Amino acid sequence: MHKEFDSPKRLLECMTLDEKVGQLSLYSADVKLAGPDPVNPTLSFQAPEHRFADIRAGRVTGFFNGHGDAFVRTLQRIAVEESRLGIPLIFGADVIHGFHTAFPVPLAEAASFEPDLSRKTAEAAAREATAHGLHWTFAPGADLCRDARWGRAVESAGEDALVSARFAAARVRGFQGESLADPQRLMATVKHFAAYGAAEAGLDYNTAELSRTTLIDHYLPPYRAAIEAGAGAVMSAFNDVDGVPATANRVLLTEILREQWGFEGFVVSDFESDLETIVHGLAATPREAVRLCFTAGLDMCMQSGTYAAHLPGLVADGTIDIRRIDHAVLRVLRAKQALGLFENPYRGLDLSYDPVPSRTLAREAARRCAVLLKNTHGALPLKPSARIALIGPFAREQQNLNGAWAIFAANAESVNLEQGFLAARGADALVVEPGCAIDAPLDGGIDAALAAARSADVIVLALGEGQHMSGESRSRADIGLPEAQLQLARALRNVSKPIITLLRTGRPLVIPELADLSDALLVTWFLGSETGHAVADLVFGHAAPSGRLPMSFPRHQGQVPIYYARKRTGRPAAPPPAMFTARYIDVDPTPLYPFGFGLGYGRADYGATEVDAAGIGWNDTVTVSCSITETAGVELEEVVQLYVRDVAASRVRPVRELKDFRKVLIPARGSVTITFTLGRTDLAFADLAGGSVTEPGEFQVWIAPHAEAGTPATFVLKAPLPSSATEEAT
Ligand code: BGC
Repeated sequence: MHKEFDSPKRLLECMTLDEKVGQLSLYSADVKLAGPDPVNPTLSFQAPEHRFADIRAGRVTGFFNGHGDAFVRTLQRIAVEESRLGIPLIFGADVIHGFHTAFPVPLAEAASFEPDLSRKTAEAAAREATAHGLHWTFAPGADLCRDARWGRAVESAGEDALVSARFAAARVRGFQGESLADPQRLMATVKHFAAYGAAEAGLDYNTAELSRTTLIDHYLPPYRAAIEAGAGAVMSAFNDVDGVPATANRVLLTEILREQWGFEGFVVSDFESDLETIVHGLAATPREAVRLCFTAGLDMCMQSGTYAAHLPGLVADGTIDIRRIDHAVLRVLRAKQALGLFENPYRGLDLSYDPVPSRTLAREAARRCAVLLKNTHGALPLKPSARIALIGPFAREQQNLNGAWAIFAANAESVNLEQGFLAARGADALVVEPGCAIDAPLDGGIDAALAAARSADVIVLALGEGQHMSGESRSRADIGLPEAQLQLARALRNVSKPIITLLRTGRPLVIPELADLSDALLVTWFLGSETGHAVADLVFGHAAPSGRLPMSFPRHQGQVPIYYARKRTGRPAAPPPAMFTARYIDVDPTPLYPFGFGLGYGRADYGATEVDAAGIGWNDTVTVSCSITETAGVELEEVVQLYVRDVAASRVRPVRELKDFRKVLIPARGSVTITFTLGRTDLAFADLAGGSVTEPGEFQVWIAPHAEAGTPATFVLKAPLPSSATEEAT
């Protein structure tokens, strides 16, 4: 900060209205001289001189999705040396799952059920991104997703509120560390507030049609967890909630975020979501859009420039109180101060960092995210002597390893499957054939694949989605495997060799036939820079799969949205021929693979769930335990899950809800006893008035390997003693 301003407040006193509004205006790095914007390719690029003049005049708070020494230094120097007040710019970007090194996509990391893994990858991403001049990331995404059609499922932590909350919080800690003043840390932004993942029919940008209690119980907790972990910023969502676009939604941006949760950072729009309130049909003009968004609690507008165009006029005619502008500006200046930008506007820039630790972490992370769904007769891991036919559109290709948001990662430096298998086994044991393209046959592809398969002992079949098939604006109505890939798989089934399928995907896919014809099925998501090495580690048994599904895999796409924490119905599904229960007449209503499911190379045998008390007092806790034994003679990492059902409550509660989970190591043929503790606050839920309540009564509790398994124990939460308030709010 210039010496004469000893605090953001003093600085604010010296700012003109235009300079204040400048601090609320963020723009894409549209001053690049060549090449399309990787995220929003339709952007028109400004002449650099034009932006230079804006910076000089204090009309810009910062830029996003540009990086690098030359870019950052050039613009920052103009801001700090040539603008009247020398306020530094902030440089933001979508650092979602890595920067130069790509880590597994967020959905994959959620499958690890190890939030601390995400903390570490976020920390490593921050180290790389800050070295390239960035200060601020537009992550973590904390959008709960129950609909596999939604393309941004890949950016989510899946369908469960607790898993999503723990991962969101862990990522914030990873990006931000102990102090934002650390030049190797990024300020985090939790997004997209709120309920963006509830897009109706899984259609990106669609209305979020959900009840207030579902919003409170399931969709809000992940955002809140990120805020409680200290996220510096919030990004508003594109969708409406209750008919009001989130970007202009006072209930969300002010009542919940600030008044209930005490958030003190700033809120930025998602791209031009402020201006889009006109297209939503809420605002009639850009000026009205600005009035509605700003007064609802949106501090900064991204890209649209509408705040710069209209806030000064709205202040001048008394519609908006200047004190409100000051509050918003102060939030932004405080963030810049917390980042240490006033002392060192070039913080972090240092391209001499060592990339090796990130690559080591990327390989470790990738191994821990894969989910083994099927492994008949111990088909995996492969025997050292096995000759392998690596077949499929992803066998050797290089463009679909990193996942939807690896916009700064170098594809050429990522390890594909062929490279990983070669490094593990050498060329003699391997023959590689694509067989087909991602969504089209290849001339002679199947014949070549069949010949390769016949020459080998085992077929490793690399199928699934291309990188372009999940991500923003990549919703799919058909979430099956492309037909060309299915045809390849069917043809290979006729060669009597075991089939090990590696499924690359950014969402649950509908794969009953593929699952049937595979001897082993390993979901490998988009695992990032070290894909090939990590998959080879798992396939050859140097590491064992330990991931579990963070989203249910449907049998049929007509079941979507399908999720385990569904509300109880008065007519739960009963097996046929029973009619008039919650079944389809044509498809089994259960998922093909449920939430929480996954195998290792060992096998877990769960004992009965036990509680240490049949009844607990209002302020007491119950200990729930279970003994788990490894029975296959192979060490196993098991994700042990604690589920609860509220037997009778004042409103319909889910079939089960995950309340805790822990990944534990069980030695070969060993047993471990796992205990969890539950108290009253774990049993709370939203009441119809928008608050939170715990009700006494009976609860069922499971310790189980997935959401559909196990036999419950029960305990009773006793009513508070007359001296405590009845139905005390939690
Ligand atoms: C996305 C955001 C992203 C922003 C900036 C938008 O289209 O929805 O998630 O942070 O672009 O790139």
